Amino acid sequence: MEIKTRGNWSSQIGFVAAAAGSAIGLGNIWRFPYIVGRYGGAAFVLVYLAIIIFIGVPIMNSELLIGRKSERNAVGAFKVLAPGTPWFIVGAMGILAGFIILSYYSVVAGWAVAYIFKSGLYMAAGAEHANIFVGHITSTATPVIWHAIFMLMCIGIVAAGIEKGIEKYSKILMPMLVLILLVLIVRSVTLPGAGKGLAFYLKPDFSKLSAEGILAALGQAFFTLSLGMGCMIVYGSYLRKKEDIPINSYYIAGADTLIAFLAGFAIFPAVFAFGLEPGAGPGLTFITLPAVFAAMGPVGHFFGILFFFLLTIAALTSAISLLEVVSAYFIDEAKWNRKKAVWIMGIIIFLLGVPSSLGQGVWSGVKIIGGRDILDSLDFLANNALLPLGGFLLCIFIGWFWGTTKAIEEANIGAKSIKLGTTYSFLIKYVIPIAIFIVFLSSVGVF
Ligand code: PHE
Repeated sequence: MEIKTRGNWSSQIGFVAAAAGSAIGLGNIWRFPYIVGRYGGAAFVLVYLAIIIFIGVPIMNSELLIGRKSERNAVGAFKVLAPGTPWFIVGAMGILAGFIILSYYSVVAGWAVAYIFKSGLYMAAGAEHANIFVGHITSTATPVIWHAIFMLMCIGIVAAGIEKGIEKYSKILMPMLVLILLVLIVRSVTLPGAGKGLAFYLKPDFSKLSAEGILAALGQAFFTLSLGMGCMIVYGSYLRKKEDIPINSYYIAGADTLIAFLAGFAIFPAVFAFGLEPGAGPGLTFITLPAVFAAMGPVGHFFGILFFFLLTIAALTSAISLLEVVSAYFIDEAKWNRKKAVWIMGIIIFLLGVPSSLGQGVWSGVKIIGGRDILDSLDFLANNALLPLGGFLLCIFIGWFWGTTKAIEEANIGAKSIKLGTTYSFLIKYVIPIAIFIVFLSSVGVF
């Protein structure tokens, strides 16, 4: 019998719900559509898909197997597998990325929570949806309060632990999310004028695809699958040996991709039906969908509440995984108890997020990376630099240091249908690091 003092997922379903819950989040419903809009629709989507299959899935396998093998947090995992080497820095970078991402993630999630309660406002708005949204996020105290409320929910769940917190809530919340999304799609694609949105989303035009677009697709793939920062290492560390890592990686990536696609079907037809701008940026979801709800008449009110509730759920199951990565480090390495680690880190992350919120309003003059405001800059830094770099280093670690033979051996314990083999090691050793490297070079203008 396996005796463990460490928390464990109680079932495969519970693990998949939690890992898919981590993957499916604002990245799918809020970020994916506006990135697709910005970088030219269907051509971007195709590149993104290829990246998910050839880069995302192998890295998902890699993180899970490293976690299960070492049974440690992101930093500890490298210390166990490569003692006395500086490889743990890769894990440390991941934890740093966790702080950064959750700080602004919870600000956006706070907007979603607020919008559950603001439906009265946007239902009565006529064509003023953009103004209402901007009014909300540019005010000073209100969004910070919603950001705090969201962080409190997150802290509550993570403090309750793996099985009784993260797993239990993910199993209830994820199926609800899928149902609500389906209902919204039906409404959106049947709006008059929806066809143009579908064409934009589904008809590829490769002339619109830039090097920056490909980097964005890479960054989005990492972000949406929660890769490159140790999240799946931590979730893998709670995984039992009998669980099937290769098939679960497909389930998680498949579910994530499906939801991102569906989100596009809910959003683009509506964007075009209302004559809005598909590349409108971070506000897209918060401006277009309320317009759809208002157009539905009185039932729209109900759908509005439902949708922002859904967005909150999706954000919550992802945010808890980010908080778990950061907390697990202090639980394992500093031997803090779970409650202490979660509360202290939760509060620090909340405070770190305040500038991102103020950057929409009173601090909107502060521009950091390439004219981006604070929130957008952090998002850019994390997704386009830290996560791909984390993924790159992880491949170098497995491919050239620790060895793909050991990796394959670990992943195949419990693997029933698909097993990792030479394709996996070829991708990890050569294809992925080279691809990430080239994308980097071309996006900084080397060629
Ligand atoms: N995957 C989450 C989303 O798509 C975000 C996330 C990134 C969560 C990194 C954990 C780690 O919203």
